[in-house]
Amino acid sequence: MCGIVGYIGQAGESRDYFALNVVLEGLRRLEYRGYDSAGVAVLTDGEISFRKKAGKVASLEQEIERAPLPDAILGIGHTRWATHGGPTDANAHPHVVDNGRLAVVHNGIIENFSELRAELSAKGYTFVSETDTEVAATLLGEIYNNEAEGDLTRAVQLTAQRLEGAFTILAIQADHGDRIVAARRNSPLVIGVGEGENFLGSDVSGFIDYTRKAVELGNDQVVTITATDYTITNFDGTPASGKPFDIEWDAAAAEKGGFDSFMDKEIHDQPAAVRDTLMGRLDEDGKLVLDELHIDEAILRSVDKIIVVACGTAAYAGQVARYAIEHWCRIPTEVELAHEFRYRDPIVNEKTLVVALSQSGETMDTLMAVRHAREQGAKVIAICNTVGSTLPREADASIYTYAGPEIAVASTKAFLAQITASYLLGLYLAQLRGNMFSDEVTGILESLRQMPEKIQTVIDHEDQVKKLGQDLANSDSVLFLGRHVGFPVALEGALKLKEIAYLHAEGFAAGELKHGPIALIEDGQPVFVIVPSPRGRDSLHSKVVSNIQEVRARGAITIAIAEEGDEAVNAYANFVIRIPQAPTLMQPLLSTVPLQIFACAVATAKGYDVDQPRNLAKSVTVE
Ligand code: M6R
Repeated sequence: MCGIVGYIGQAGESRDYFALNVVLEGLRRLEYRGYDSAGVAVLTDGEISFRKKAGKVASLEQEIERAPLPDAILGIGHTRWATHGGPTDANAHPHVVDNGRLAVVHNGIIENFSELRAELSAKGYTFVSETDTEVAATLLGEIYNNEAEGDLTRAVQLTAQRLEGAFTILAIQADHGDRIVAARRNSPLVIGVGEGENFLGSDVSGFIDYTRKAVELGNDQVVTITATDYTITNFDGTPASGKPFDIEWDAAAAEKGGFDSFMDKEIHDQPAAVRDTLMGRLDEDGKLVLDELHIDEAILRSVDKIIVVACGTAAYAGQVARYAIEHWCRIPTEVELAHEFRYRDPIVNEKTLVVALSQSGETMDTLMAVRHAREQGAKVIAICNTVGSTLPREADASIYTYAGPEIAVASTKAFLAQITASYLLGLYLAQLRGNMFSDEVTGILESLRQMPEKIQTVIDHEDQVKKLGQDLANSDSVLFLGRHVGFPVALEGALKLKEIAYLHAEGFAAGELKHGPIALIEDGQPVFVIVPSPRGRDSLHSKVVSNIQEVRARGAITIAIAEEGDEAVNAYANFVIRIPQAPTLMQPLLSTVPLQIFACAVATAKGYDVDQPRNLAKSVTVE
């Protein structure tokens, strides 16, 4: 939930004495992970100096302008999403202890912090914050001065062994101006490898401006970085190694690129996100290739149940995927919120395939669900957007979504990319298990291949939706209705509006309307209806058109999202937002887009920070 960055260079090099700038730049890029407070510490001539401030990184920068920090070649920084203790200056990181000699930043939750605090208090230590981090820092100081005899790396190893829960900690000590030592357990940390300088970041955006070379750190590992080297060990001090990788996107991908917000940019990135997720997975003849699925085909053939686990938007992508996977593979498929799955004693065995969806690959609820499933013998396939994150490392196989960095807290392009990747998985399983002929698979792949262009068409008509967003911005509540794959789209439309526009919104299965929710309808209530294709199966289309009539008859303002050429909706919809024609299962890739644009427009009209909504963080790395 928090963002952490560390930098060490050397005198005489190009970024000589610019540690502060490098760290602040990293914090700005990592701010999406948490923005309750921020802080930095730099080390110069055997002295640690620090500033920290409640509020966003901009407030910290103002504080530094007011009270400048010295030049330095070494610095650490933190941007916080509060867990223990509110977002105050005192609770902000870094926590500087041991008479100003030791500074620590931390991401995660230390579960045994109360016992440790009591133990340290009994030894005479006092605390100035309510945080678990200050307790960890104090423990580190105690160990550094005693058991570790002034060896910072050893002190971090020994401290990590005493901490329970999830944590990444970065520590600097005044007598060690040549190193940063970090430990990680169940919380992300990546090393950035430069020339004559090295970096640490919660993810690669913390140092993307400076290097494209990175190393993934394993769980329960400690790393010591200097300007020219890094050394990895396990918590017990035995040598270990990380996994080097190249960062495939550049700093420009993490910029707004002329858009007003990251969310706006990321909505516009969606044709590319879907195209890139398909790329390399269709051969010249349009056939499916999924080389990355290193799971024995015999095991995949024996699967008798699929459980998709995920949270938030990713879970809605999973719900969309279920319709396709069951239809194509004829394997019973459940979708469950990861935190519910983990704690309900689910029936899972070696014939269960668990598919975990996550943009960040760091969502703790999803990671816990995956660990639980693997303990029961299930195979796990991760669908993930973040190379170097924890989820792909813990899964049996991974399919990456190539959406590029998603910075806005509200997920947009990751959703479409997750649906696309899940569809590829469904088609692969159907092909492998003989549920579909290869020309059927090829036909669906061809429909998928056409989607980026169709998504672009929806985006090209965004002005109509933006205007609607401005006009309806003062509504008290907005409802969303859909059937079949339109149902999770309705849920996603409501989530977007809640999280960035702070507007009450609910998504319903349209068939459920008459079982209760229709009582909510009164004069002027905006209701979005996701209309299935009239060319689709069964009588879904006419049933949804009836639902529009039902709410309209009770005074609702009806907004239909309907295919080009679907004239049946015209009589009952106050507004019709057109999407290109596409097979039913492809429609979510189109019908979601106006809902994202709408939420963004409402939040903008209300003057809210679209990218960093209140109380939220991009990666939810606590349970
Ligand atoms: O990184 P993940 O995909 O695992 O994140 C899951 C949810 O926390 C995330 O989708 C969240 O619901 C978004 N803020 C929704 O826009």
